[in-house]
Amino acid sequence: MKTIRVALLGLGTVGKGVYHHLTTNRKRIEKEFGITIDIATIIVKHPEKHHSFERKELISNDFQTILDNPDIDVVIEAIIGREPAFSYLTKSIQAEKHIITANKEMFAFHGKELLHLANAYNVQVGFEATTAGGIPIIHTIKRLFQYNQISKLTAILNGTSNYILSEMRNNKLSFEEALQQAQQLGYAEANPTNDIEGYDSFYKLMILSLLLYQEQPNWDYVKRKGISTITSKDIANHTANRERIKLLAVLEKQNDNISARVEPLAIPESHPLYGVEGVQNAVILEGSIVGEIMLSGPGAGASPTASAILEDLTFILRTGLSTHISPIYS
Ligand code: HSE
Repeated sequence: MKTIRVALLGLGTVGKGVYHHLTTNRKRIEKEFGITIDIATIIVKHPEKHHSFERKELISNDFQTILDNPDIDVVIEAIIGREPAFSYLTKSIQAEKHIITANKEMFAFHGKELLHLANAYNVQVGFEATTAGGIPIIHTIKRLFQYNQISKLTAILNGTSNYILSEMRNNKLSFEEALQQAQQLGYAEANPTNDIEGYDSFYKLMILSLLLYQEQPNWDYVKRKGISTITSKDIANHTANRERIKLLAVLEKQNDNISARVEPLAIPESHPLYGVEGVQNAVILEGSIVGEIMLSGPGAGASPTASAILEDLTFILRTGLSTHISPIYS
């Protein structure tokens, strides 16, 4: 049976989710694909923090071992921030390894470069996990929205913010209590400023812009406002008016002009995003032929993000390893 060797960068919430699902589904994948997926190494910054991990012999802080091992086919990156993630993935591509990333900040900044580099080296880039958690929005746009032109996208892209707003309204929690719960549930970033100040939604929106329009608007002209100033009183006032506050991310292309914004807005009961509650995310696409469609699903957490990564891995197993297809943006 063919063995595919995977290196994992990071063993936080997402890394552990990937490890768990790869391990527990091993037999089924062997049966369905005729492939054994072997986790060859797990690279972390502080190996000593993982002494209780069940396979601690896999853990190291030496990234170079991945580059030195020609048998590693795929590098899965689930670490935080632009560096060293970007350098690691650049070197992985140059070593002719397929890459999969869950790192939205890094990919919003460097996605275009990585896609071009991967094209030059004939390897694939999976980035489903960067955006909207477990919703297969990247694959949907890449593969199922080719003929339509998308003029507008309206979305809830941050699970933590949506969870906080829902808990403040439904369970009368304070902002701080709701944020603490979101952290305990593994929804929030290590630095929750990214969630509550709209940066996380902004990065995801920029990735969607790259995917839909092959470019991004000038970041300086994108409004980015989070939910940190929303009070329980604001929530109560809007609830009395049968409105809900949602952190909306909007991307539009008119003529050749792309505009984007992230901001909390009160929406009425009739709005399709009104019922998107808790950690759910949703994306509304306006297609030139199909009209308006909406995809929704869990937007954060170990399993939804691992799901997106593992679907990328499956796609690479089904296509990239045999054919080396890597058209840019598709
Ligand atoms: N902190 C992110 C969120 C995780 O709450 O949406 C998923 O990207």
